[in-house]
Amino acid sequence: MSYYDQIIESVVFLREKIDIEPEIGVVLGTGLGSLADKIEIDVRIPYCEIPHFPPATVKGHEGALIFGKLEGKNIVAQSGRYHYYEGYDMKQVTFPVRVFRFLKVKSLIIASAVGGIHQEYEAGDVAIVTDHINLHYENPLQGHNDERLGTRFPDMTDAYSPRLIELAKQIAKEKNIKLHESVYAGLPGPNLETKAEYNYLHVIGATVVGMSTVPEIIVARHMGLESCVFAAIANKCFPISAIKEVTHDEVIQVANLAASKIAAIAMEMIRRL
Ligand code: HPA
Repeated sequence: MSYYDQIIESVVFLREKIDIEPEIGVVLGTGLGSLADKIEIDVRIPYCEIPHFPPATVKGHEGALIFGKLEGKNIVAQSGRYHYYEGYDMKQVTFPVRVFRFLKVKSLIIASAVGGIHQEYEAGDVAIVTDHINLHYENPLQGHNDERLGTRFPDMTDAYSPRLIELAKQIAKEKNIKLHESVYAGLPGPNLETKAEYNYLHVIGATVVGMSTVPEIIVARHMGLESCVFAAIANKCFPISAIKEVTHDEVIQVANLAASKIAAIAMEMIRRL
């Protein structure tokens, strides 16, 4: 079965289960998990029930699509993400975003934890991503291009919607939340970077670094889906002298600190969209 047919089969299955047509998609990465509690849930569908959704690799993290209302808007939330470092290929990692588009989602909001590679960024700060540098060696658009999904050579200018960036900045200002504007370097992980790598990322113009998001944005752009990304700065990685050894648990703890700020901005954004 072609990739396109798999997407359609998932969409047909989901349409049977839902009464609403979601207009906004939310990817609940680290930093937006608390948003899930605010959704008036209509239906929650575990990935394992949805045709062609990749199986979860980590027990206890089943993952689900949540359909419901947030700030009066019909949304679909991806609760639990597929990361490349878990062993999924790029087409699996980005499958939910493909499905969102064919469910007629118009705007996509992603949140993810990052390392901060700018001297003024502190752990716990939040950022809106304005651009990225893709340092993955595999690309989700590699191989045969199905024109029903998008064009062979998608343009990546404004992959991060200027409209949504402006809206996020406006809302952050109104709410008195400091919001950096950042360039996201996307790496496969799962290890964090060496000091030399953080320095290299700084030199090439990145201001945050993470292990997700870039594949999803490439695919969203391929399909003409308006997108924005919030980054929760979990650890300070620049200047090099400020780097401290961190564990994944510490990264999650600090990202959660930033989560309430991201949730506040994202919810107001959803209300105004
Ligand atoms: N590097 C890559 N990804 C991350 C980091 C980091 O330092 N912190 C949180 N996600």
